[in-house]
Amino acid sequence: MHDLYDMIFKRKSFRRFDDTLSLSNEELQKIEEKLYKLSPLVDDINLKYQIVKREKTTCKRGEYCLLVYSEKKENYLLNIGYVLEQLDLWMASENIGACWYGMGKTTEQQYDGLDYVIMLALGKGRSVEFRKDYTKAKRKELEIIWNDERFVDVANVVRYAPSSCNSQPWRVFCEDDDIQIYCSTKARSMIPEGRRPYYNSIDMGIFLCFMEIALKNKGYEFKRMVYAGQKKDEELIAVADYREFYKLFVKYSAAKAPPASNGIFFVASRHIEARLFAFVF
Ligand SMILES: Cc1cc2nc3c(=O)[nH]c(=O)nc-3n(C[C@H](O)[C@H](O)[C@H](O)COP(=O)(O)O)c2cc1C
Repeated sequence: MHDLYDMIFKRKSFRRFDDTLSLSNEELQKIEEKLYKLSPLVDDINLKYQIVKREKTTCKRGEYCLLVYSEKKENYLLNIGYVLEQLDLWMASENIGACWYGMGKTTEQQYDGLDYVIMLALGKGRSVEFRKDYTKAKRKELEIIWNDERFVDVANVVRYAPSSCNSQPWRVFCEDDDIQIYCSTKARSMIPEGRRPYYNSIDMGIFLCFMEIALKNKGYEFKRMVYAGQKKDEELIAVADYREFYKLFVKYSAAKAPPASNGIFFVASRHIEARLFAFVF
């Protein structure tokens, strides 16, 4: 997943597909194989896929549509955003254009006992058709989505995550040593209010995928905690947090250490210079 970093800057929502290009059988097979190698956010949620001709759906773009089916367990929408964004990025590396397509409809509402969730439009692209200058992509000012100077290198990457109607519902708070990720219920969007939580949950999963690729690329080790959507206040819903640690690998030698400290590692945070956290194994 972490080798996808460069694709963050190349990907874009493909809306114009060149009809003279077509995905080969080998490419379709490669996509199918890739689908079952993507990393889940939530381990025990069963996902299934169908790749169908676009004409079998209401989608107006692309040669094919990837229909995504899932078990409806806690955080299943977050999981779908996280998993399928890896595919979106990987496809950019293969010059396959894609667009998340929330407004698409299919009559195939069930597959192998799982419920339909969302589709992505797919089709062959040319490398020149992908994003050339990511800084020109329309995104909110950084101050709106990120509350701090810390991790600004990460912030300046993850802000380019795609979202339904470009609503960018993510709000990030760096507090103490954590990066806390929230979903704003007030993010502007053309989606009818009743459907927003659905699409914004997928958006947030996409954002977590970007976060993890960017954090790793910048050399941050982290632990992730996913929440079940508890409200922080009227506007914000807690989605996840990252605790960023970087290991100093300082281990007290048996001679120096007091007896109780056998097996204690000290782990320092990059952002609280002199503070040390001790973990007892
Ligand atoms: C969950 C989701 C649903 C989307 N649904 C649609 C859609 O129905 N039609 C469409 O043209 N674009 C759709 N998009 C694409 C967004 O409009 C697009 O990601 C956003 O405007 C940012 O542009 P970019 O992807 O080119 O960076 C969707 C994106 C997401 C993440």
